[in-house]
Amino acid sequence: MRMVDIIDKKRNGQELTSPEIQFFIDGVCNQTIPDYQTSALLMATYFEDMTDQERATLTMKMMESGDRLDLSQIPGIKVDKHSTGGVGDKISIPLAAVVAATGIPVPMISGRGLGHTGGTLDKLEAIPGYQVEISEQDFIKQVAKEKLAIIGATGDIAPADKKIYALRDVTDTVDSIPLIASSIMSKKIASGTDALVIDVKTGSGAFMKTLDDSVALAKALVAIGKGVGLKCMAVISDMNQPLGYKVGNSLEIEESIDVLKGKGPEDVKELMLTLGSYMVVLGGKAADAKTARKLLEEAISSGKALDRFRAMIKAQGGDERVIDDYSLMPQAKYKIELPAKQSGVVEEIKADEVGIASMMLGGGRQKAGDQLDYSVGIELKKKVGDEVKAGESLLTIYSNRPNVDDIKDLLYQNIAIADHADKKPMIYQVIE
Ligand code: URA
Repeated sequence: MRMVDIIDKKRNGQELTSPEIQFFIDGVCNQTIPDYQTSALLMATYFEDMTDQERATLTMKMMESGDRLDLSQIPGIKVDKHSTGGVGDKISIPLAAVVAATGIPVPMISGRGLGHTGGTLDKLEAIPGYQVEISEQDFIKQVAKEKLAIIGATGDIAPADKKIYALRDVTDTVDSIPLIASSIMSKKIASGTDALVIDVKTGSGAFMKTLDDSVALAKALVAIGKGVGLKCMAVISDMNQPLGYKVGNSLEIEESIDVLKGKGPEDVKELMLTLGSYMVVLGGKAADAKTARKLLEEAISSGKALDRFRAMIKAQGGDERVIDDYSLMPQAKYKIELPAKQSGVVEEIKADEVGIASMMLGGGRQKAGDQLDYSVGIELKKKVGDEVKAGESLLTIYSNRPNVDDIKDLLYQNIAIADHADKKPMIYQVIE
């Protein structure tokens, strides 16, 4: 078999066979296929797409390129959630705790942030002592005992994806549905969960900017999952403005704990309860989403969800006193307000640019490996649809440098105030 023939076939819009996809993945892993040929196939795939069969085969071959976790020692139906990434998206943190409180094991393998999107692992590391790297055996023991753990990938999960993703990043082939879907699902299938709820973000702060593209991605993800026997569904949620009010690592842990205490922003609660309801249904603890939602609401009001979060922090070496004293997490030196320049209604707050502002303050990485400042970020005082008077604060900038004129300029350019605003729904569609 020759790689050039495989590229030629895809370039001409033909379906690749399983042996051809296997040849490609093997060549990527053992480095017998040079990066320029891999890149050519990625670009051909970007333009010519893949059939459902090709997408499923590519996913499985990428999954088989590395380790696969065996979670069979944990009793019950294990349920995980994956998000395609957003700004202020701290959902995994309260969600894992509230679902675990209903008795469902939640073995969550999360990622770090890159660019404008935040990562759950970075947020959790704002809790002093919290360890995201634990062994597979300790992970299994913790989920069996406490019903939840949130960790980074153990072992060598889908190494083919790591290589392909790095090339996609530099060849402008990231936003391709077959490539995103196979990348996400190869890792999720390898992580050993029985069921998965996927939060596909749509809007300015998401990979998929239009609803049509988000629906197509959600359908591709669910089809691949179901194809390999995973219980799987997707929720399409809004990412046109940041989720909740707080963006930044310590700040997002505070907001997550607020939600577990029954407080916190309405949009965060709504998304958590929606995703959680489907997780509870897939986990077999409720027959329908309405009943599941009640179980989750009870888990919050009884304090059981907060108790699960406390247990997870303790099990992973963190200081659980942060739950009652947020000042134990890193705190920024300066809090600087951004006053509105005119009166009106907030029409738009571009999520990706707020994420970039937080990154520029030190809360995110400009490149892989950068050290983070957990204390910095943005706290919105107004969200889309809120009235604002000239001079009133739109948001607070948490910074460790006194001069944030660059951040202020960026934020002013990306927050629009008008006569009226069209409020977008939090949940657009559910794909089963
Ligand atoms: N997340 C992934 O893991 N892969 C992609 O391709 C996009 C988002």
